[in-house]
Amino acid sequence: MAQHNADRVADWNDQSGERWAAHQARLDAMLAVFGQAAIEAAAPVTGERVLDVGCGAGASSQALATLVGPRGHVLGVDISESLIGRARALTPQDMPVVFAMADASRAELPEGAFDILFSRFGVMFFDDPTAAFAHMRGALRPGGRVAFVCWRGMADNDWMRRPIGAIKGIVPSTAPPDPEAPGPFSFGDRGRVARVLMAAGFTDIAIEPFDSSVPFGKGPTRDAAIDDAVKMTLEVGPLSRALADQPDDIRARASAAVRAVFADRPGERSVMINGAAWIVTARNPV
Ligand SMILES: C[S@@+](CC[C@H](N)C(=O)[O-])C[C@H]1O[C@@H](n2cnc3c(N)ncnc32)[C@H](O)[C@@H]1O
Repeated sequence: MAQHNADRVADWNDQSGERWAAHQARLDAMLAVFGQAAIEAAAPVTGERVLDVGCGAGASSQALATLVGPRGHVLGVDISESLIGRARALTPQDMPVVFAMADASRAELPEGAFDILFSRFGVMFFDDPTAAFAHMRGALRPGGRVAFVCWRGMADNDWMRRPIGAIKGIVPSTAPPDPEAPGPFSFGDRGRVARVLMAAGFTDIAIEPFDSSVPFGKGPTRDAAIDDAVKMTLEVGPLSRALADQPDDIRARASAAVRAVFADRPGERSVMINGAAWIVTARNPV
């Protein structure tokens, strides 16, 4: 048990967490529309209590807190110390939100205390997702709701598929990743998400596609926006890992290839590129 989610805890407390925090404003701009769709699916009302899993720098926790109001409550949980620090710093004191640094899959959570289990892209990193969701279900009241957004497969997500395609042939190929290994695309298979939630004890499971063209990278000029998109791609997520141990010349060639991909996309002070997600809802049986 000591090793439970250990790689993820280490990673989100090291490079991934710090880089996510560094690019947080741009990532928030990219993820906002997906988070909003998940919030609409959650449909929180005044006075409700929400658990925001993998809350990161807290943008979704703040949005949820605004909707549940002072009679409600949001608990944002994340394993990254730097992101929880950021969430606390960015959230106004008078909002009904508390942040806790913890592994949501095993943290001691008050039993039956929440009306809604919510997440914006924070539930794809568990070593054992079924056990994690079963554990988190214990924190939901009977009849409580689940609503989260997660990425569909990499093949549907241009913001990752196109850059990854561009570096093929530049970066020495490695074994294709296990699509179910913890990571951003591990819930890409709709059938798997349904199986996980069903095995964890949830009912009324619905999994709907949600697509949007999103701003990826930003800058005062078109060129600066493209540079920003390249930087973000090389520093956050799967491509940063693929390039981590590569020599400078390979990194430079990969960077040029990724730049060409983004230069080909529309946008004025950002690069507009397609993202594809699942909006997932379910219920804790009464
Ligand atoms: C892709 S980021 C999304 C962050 C945030 N929800 C957002 O939309 O900006 C995934 C987040 O999940 C967190 N995370 C990963 N595994 C976790 C776990 N077992 N328990 C709690 N948080 C976790 C990471 O630290 C990270 O902040």
